[in-house]
Amino acid sequence: MTATLGEDAQRIDGRDKVSGKPIYAADRILRKMVHAVPVAATVRKGRITGIDKSGAQHTPGVLLILTHENFDRLRPVQFSFAGGTAIQSFQPLQSAEVKYRGQAVALVVAETLEAAQEAAALIRVSYSEDASATVELNAPGGTSVKQAVATPFFKDFVAGDPEAAIAAALVRFEQTYLTAPQHQNPIELLSTVAEWRGDQLIVHEGTQAASAMRAGLATQLGIPLEKVRVLSPYVGGAFGQRGSISPHTVFAAVAARRVGRPVKLVVPRAQVFHATSFRAPTEHKITFGADTDGRFVGGIHLVRALTSRFDLMPFTGQESTSRMYNWKTFRGATTLIQGDVQTPGFMRAPFEATSYFALESAMDEFAIQLGLDPIELRLRNDTHKDPISGKPYTVRKLRECLERGGERFGWSRRNPQPGSMRDPDGTLIGWGMAAGAYPYISAAAVATARLSSNGQLTIDVGGHEMGQGIRTAIAIVAAEELGIEADAVTVRVGDTAIAPQHVTAGASGAVTSLPPVRLAVRDLRTQIDRLATMQGNSRVEPSGYVGLMQRAGLKELVGRGQELGPQAQPDVLQKIEQGSIAFTGPEFPDFVAFSYIAHFAEVRIDPRLPTPHVARYVSVIDCGRVVSRRTAMSQAYGGIIWGIESALSEASEVDPRYGGFLNSNLAEYAMAVNADIRDLDVSFIDEPDERVNALGAKGVGEVVSVGAIAAIANAIHHATGKRVRHFPIRADDLLA
Ligand code: MOS
Repeated sequence: MTATLGEDAQRIDGRDKVSGKPIYAADRILRKMVHAVPVAATVRKGRITGIDKSGAQHTPGVLLILTHENFDRLRPVQFSFAGGTAIQSFQPLQSAEVKYRGQAVALVVAETLEAAQEAAALIRVSYSEDASATVELNAPGGTSVKQAVATPFFKDFVAGDPEAAIAAALVRFEQTYLTAPQHQNPIELLSTVAEWRGDQLIVHEGTQAASAMRAGLATQLGIPLEKVRVLSPYVGGAFGQRGSISPHTVFAAVAARRVGRPVKLVVPRAQVFHATSFRAPTEHKITFGADTDGRFVGGIHLVRALTSRFDLMPFTGQESTSRMYNWKTFRGATTLIQGDVQTPGFMRAPFEATSYFALESAMDEFAIQLGLDPIELRLRNDTHKDPISGKPYTVRKLRECLERGGERFGWSRRNPQPGSMRDPDGTLIGWGMAAGAYPYISAAAVATARLSSNGQLTIDVGGHEMGQGIRTAIAIVAAEELGIEADAVTVRVGDTAIAPQHVTAGASGAVTSLPPVRLAVRDLRTQIDRLATMQGNSRVEPSGYVGLMQRAGLKELVGRGQELGPQAQPDVLQKIEQGSIAFTGPEFPDFVAFSYIAHFAEVRIDPRLPTPHVARYVSVIDCGRVVSRRTAMSQAYGGIIWGIESALSEASEVDPRYGGFLNSNLAEYAMAVNADIRDLDVSFIDEPDERVNALGAKGVGEVVSVGAIAAIANAIHHATGKRVRHFPIRADDLLA
């Protein structure tokens, strides 16, 4: 059967995945390969005063112990938001300084993993500890920096004079919301296999940014870009953790060069909590002013977000909240608080997952204050013109999401009185809703389509397969264009040798990779038609492609496509090769583009032991045209499940006495399990947004997590009458 856009096609790599065929980085076994294990700092902050390697050195099989005393001197690497490629600018193993608990302080290389682990455990590091370290947002010792001043790249989001408008408003609201630090925790651990072939470095690692990793390695090692190749054909989850280069990658590269053998380095789960980025804790102050009918006259969204001492990780969640409703006047601004942590980064629905917890909780509170239904408050403040730029939205189906979601959920049967809905056995029932939006962003990509004389179509393109199913979406687009089946297409992504590999993040993956793929296959199709005409056929069916090529004596036909995206700079592909972040959107010269969602949640709470459970969940998504239904649906399920677990259980625990993150394992870092997830009902508006790209598709992977936490918090309020202004919301928040 010929592929068609929007079909519910099986994943083209599904069978391979369930039968264990894909080779992830840590599955790779190279000849003479050895193993490296890092040692992590056990103090909050301070200096290394001594390293006793005597026990480790005598462990059989140990080849090399690297510390700041003997590690190669690396060239500095810039933080990605300072124009570089790195997840943070601080490089461990370069000095005696300990900047945060869990930082690498040594690396053991041995013949076997067991020997490396045993020796790593025998290394004794002594420190002088600085007890002033802080890892919390509101602890003494944090230094605050105004984001707009410190990082001119990220401005405040301002329209008019909201302070004056709110001061004069008939109805006012102000509340503060807190969000917990979190870690992305993909199932695949951070893993690197590094090998040198002469002066050529080859790195196998699951990443969202193979070109940035390549550039970051070249920078740190002081070698030309051309001498590094990064291969990332499959990534076992990423969720924002792998959008720039983390410190461990260069450890493996240096170790491999020093021992003259390939090195495998898998960062243990407990160390992953400090070896790369995390979601910063944040505080949001939301202020509204409105008329008595609930129409806004002004909104203010002020954020405080944690960052490290050495990098200013921006918080830009107000880019989206400033454009969500018809504010008339608005101010969005961030203050960064510098603490003693590694640099935080992206985590799925970076910024928006937390900023919409605050905004959409506040919308629920404000609706109650006004005596309005929460859907009605959102509809009264719907807009088709961006309040910040004054430009029109491309397609905004927020109203449709809210109305269809309400219908599917049965919202009209809700008694708005908190605590009024109960099961016969006394179980409290709460119904809550929230909305969300996520900016449309895209990068640039080039694609090559190769049809071989055995009929096989191979697509090479920029992009990364992180489990979201981009291979399947690419195959559907390519196969439809050529009139063949999706599973007849081979897709190669994530390899710096085949195409520039843009950072695949911010729900930009499909919208960046699919348009050039379609162009490349169209180019191929034109060549086929030309061949057919030359051979005297006016039309050729897919079954005739092979014969056509054979008669022409061709082994291969090659089509090419390139798409830079709306408003792209001409040097965008070069920037991607250099590893820079090169996104455009959501504001374009003539329009502003977002994806939208409405969430509806039912919680059930036993009043005697008030642990909330989500019994039922409905989401309706406007992400333009759905290209690959199966994988878009899985993205939605994943994002909603993440919302449920964020609302009810997931958080990285901190204790000022120790620094770092304490529950650094999957047992105590409480993610949702099957029993936590009941009935999820997801549907798509599925109307193309033709102005953003030729396919009319917009991102889905991030918007699904936006507003999800608030829908549950709002349902908990409806069930219990208790307004909890932080997450996760646990039984102890609801007792008494
Ligand atoms: Mo996404 S958190 O931008 O990978």
